[in-house]
Amino acid sequence: ARITLRQLLDHAAENDYGLPAYNINNMEQGLAIMEAAHEVNAPVIIQASRGARNYANDVVLAKLIDALAELYPDIPVCMHQDHGNGPATCATAIQYGFTSVMMDGSLEEDAKTPASYEYNVEVTRRVTEMAHACGVSVEGELGVLGSLETGMGEAEDGHGFEGKLDHSQLLTDPDQAVDFVAATKVDALAIAMGTSHGAYKFSKKPDGDILAMNVIEDIHRRLPNTHLVMHGSSSVPQDLQDIINQYGGEMPQTWGVPVEEIQRGIKHGVRKVNIDTDNRMAITGAIRKALMENPREFDPRAYLKPAKAAMKKLCMERYQQFGCEGQA
Ligand code: G3H
Ligand code: 13P
Ligand code: ZN
Repeated sequence: ARITLRQLLDHAAENDYGLPAYNINNMEQGLAIMEAAHEVNAPVIIQASRGARNYANDVVLAKLIDALAELYPDIPVCMHQDHGNGPATCATAIQYGFTSVMMDGSLEEDAKTPASYEYNVEVTRRVTEMAHACGVSVEGELGVLGSLETGMGEAEDGHGFEGKLDHSQLLTDPDQAVDFVAATKVDALAIAMGTSHGAYKFSKKPDGDILAMNVIEDIHRRLPNTHLVMHGSSSVPQDLQDIINQYGGEMPQTWGVPVEEIQRGIKHGVRKVNIDTDNRMAITGAIRKALMENPREFDPRAYLKPAKAAMKKLCMERYQQFGCEGQA
C-alpha cells in the first residue's frame, strides 16, 4: 500500500529505527528492493532521481511502482522524488503518484550552483505549500553536499564545483536549520555533514574530522521532532570493490560512510538514509562476474538474475542494520 514519507518517518521515530531509501532506475532494482523488504518485513522508500525519470520514462516508472506495490500489498511503500531541482519537477512527480518529494534548494535550478539561503527558503516553502495541499510529504536540504576531506562541493552531475567551498558551507548550520524548518514546514531535513554522492567519498576510513557526526547531534538537540536525512550514505564495501576489480573493473581504492556511523546517526534523529552507490556496485560486480565466467552466454537474464540477487542481499543487510526488521 502507498504511504507518505511523513507517515513512515513518524513511525521510525516512535520506534527508534532508520529507513534506507534506495534509488530505482529499472525493474530489477524494484524487484530487489521489494523482495528484500518482504523477506525481513520492512517498510519501503523507493526514490527516483530526475535522471531515473528520464531513463525509465515517467509512465513506465509510475506503472512499475504500482506493480511493485500490488505484488506486496502488506508492505507500505513511499515513492519519493530524489533531488527535485524546482517546483515543476516536484509537481510532475506528484502527478505521477509520488507520495513524497525532495525540493533540493541548496543548489539553484541548474543543480550546479550553490544557492543563497533566501532562495532555498522561498522555493522550498512554495513546494511544501503545494505538496501538502496534495497530501504529499516534502524533504528539504540545507547545506551543500560534498566531501569535507577534499573541500569540494558537489554539483548534481557528480562533478565538484570549480573552486573549493569553505569548510562551513559543507556543514549544515544548526541555528539556520531551526529557522529553515520553521520557515518551510518541511517533513524531513537533509543535512550536510561531510559526505558526497558516489563511490569516491574518502581516501581513508573517515574519522570524526572528515565525517561531522557531531553536527547531526547538534541539530537533533535543537530540532528533536524533525526527521533528519543523510545523503551520500553508501558504505562502498571493500568486498564489492574487490569483486568489481577482480572481474575486469578498475575502481581505485576508496572509502564510504561506515555502517556504524549511520547507526550512530539513527540514535540522533536520522530517519532516512539515502543509498544508491552500494546497490550500483552490487549489480555491477555480479554482472562482471557472470559475464567473465560465462563468456558464451548472451541471455541478459543470465547476468541480471545474479545482479538482482546481489542488490537484494545488500538491501536486506541495511534493513537489518538500521533496525527496520519487522516494522512493516
Ligand atoms: O543523487 C544521487 C543518486 O545517486 C542518483 O543519481 O542522478 O545519477 O540518478 P543519478
Ligand atoms: P550514495 O551515492 O552514497 O549512494 O548516495 C545516494 C544519495 O544520496 C541519493 O540521493
Ligand atoms: Zn542525495
